[in-house]
Amino acid sequence: MTITATEARPRTLRVALIGGGLMARSHSFAYNSLPSLFPELGVVPELSILADVDDERARAAAAQLGFARFTSDWREAVTADDIDVVDIVTPNSLHFDIAMAAIAAGKHVYCEKPLAITVDEARRMRDAARVAGVRTIVGFSYLGGPGIQLAKQFVDDGTLGDIWQIKSHFFADGNADPSLPRTWHYERAKAGLGSLGDLGSHVISLVEFLGGPVDEVFGELATVVPERPRAVGALSYGSKAEEGAPLDPVENDDIATVVARLSGGARALIETSRVANGHSFDLALEIVGSKGSLRFSQQDSYAVDLFLRGEQAQRFTGTTAITMGPQHGDYAAYWPFGGVTLGLHEQKAIEVRNLFRAIVEGHEAYPSFEQGASVVEVLDAAQRSSDERVWVDVAR
Ligand SMILES: NC(=O)c1ccc[n+]([C@@H]2O[C@H](COP(=O)([O-])OP(=O)(O)OC[C@H]3O[C@@H](n4cnc5c(N)ncnc54)[C@H](O)[C@@H]3O)[C@@H](O)[C@H]2O)c1
Repeated sequence: MTITATEARPRTLRVALIGGGLMARSHSFAYNSLPSLFPELGVVPELSILADVDDERARAAAAQLGFARFTSDWREAVTADDIDVVDIVTPNSLHFDIAMAAIAAGKHVYCEKPLAITVDEARRMRDAARVAGVRTIVGFSYLGGPGIQLAKQFVDDGTLGDIWQIKSHFFADGNADPSLPRTWHYERAKAGLGSLGDLGSHVISLVEFLGGPVDEVFGELATVVPERPRAVGALSYGSKAEEGAPLDPVENDDIATVVARLSGGARALIETSRVANGHSFDLALEIVGSKGSLRFSQQDSYAVDLFLRGEQAQRFTGTTAITMGPQHGDYAAYWPFGGVTLGLHEQKAIEVRNLFRAIVEGHEAYPSFEQGASVVEVLDAAQRSSDERVWVDVAR
């Protein structure tokens, strides 16, 4: 058999990863699995350079994750000539400076959520990317899963009728132990909001994807573990506090409840907690419409529960569990038979595919910095509502 030189030669996109912590592992997993999951895209990521705070952390992460070189200076990575995509997996307060520098250097940007700490920063990132014409995506993770894609289809094609209500939550208990050290997640300047910014930004992205923009919110944000031990040298998850470490204040919310009015007329309930004992990673939502309802749970995402009024409701009582299978969204890339749960990390590969497809086909990705900025606007309105104890319009 003869193979011509031009046949099946994939395009390479060269990645600079900024940050070598928890999500760096997830993103690297996604890059490595992309060519086998989505070969039709014809793109192979090249893991070119990884930046972290010092040489030792950067070297160790680059070696573990398979990056060709490393640096302790993120600006060097972001502006390097041989880079196409800058991927930001640092604490939230760094997203703005790194993304703006990347956009100024003409790079495409993959940025973790929440897009920025402040509305002003988020809008400037959105506007700069728009003017520069670079492609962007925000790491909301769950929008590309087959269950959420099916829910979107049922909303858009009228299967559920007029959307009346979306009830949603993201409860986790990874921070429930009060003896865990006060890492950057508890500092307002580094993280922004707490459970609402961290977990709630996922939920808000889902609510806006399925129900349209949030217009108005009433928020109640609360901190229930007011102090945590000082994090001496603790830079990431899994760090332990030193024995007898002094206590420092927790500066953002552990739990949040937000009631929202959506521009399309629906009401939404958004609840989050990072101290929800007994809920390890419980992201779920229910859409209630005039013709039926749909329930989705990320932990049981091998199926979506659908209830339709009318003939079926008269013959049977209860919901139908639609088992996810190759006919739904990108499921077929993973498995030829139904019923396999796609988790967070598999969905990250869909996210990377969506960004790379936008780059090679020359169109916007979803969710871009546009949607990322919108979520930051909702977060800001929820905090202001909680502070002022009134309904607040989401500034657009
Ligand atoms: N999409 C998701 O499901 C999801 C899940 C967890 C976290 N996140 C987001 O991912 C981002 C990173 O979170 P994480 O959990 O990986 O945090 P992490 O603390 O585990 O890792 C952050 C890394 O950034 C490095 N860093 C800090 N300052 C730096 C600098 N100046 N230059 C280069 N590197 C620097 C740290 O040393 C660390 O290695 C956050 O924005 C977070 O909200 C998203």
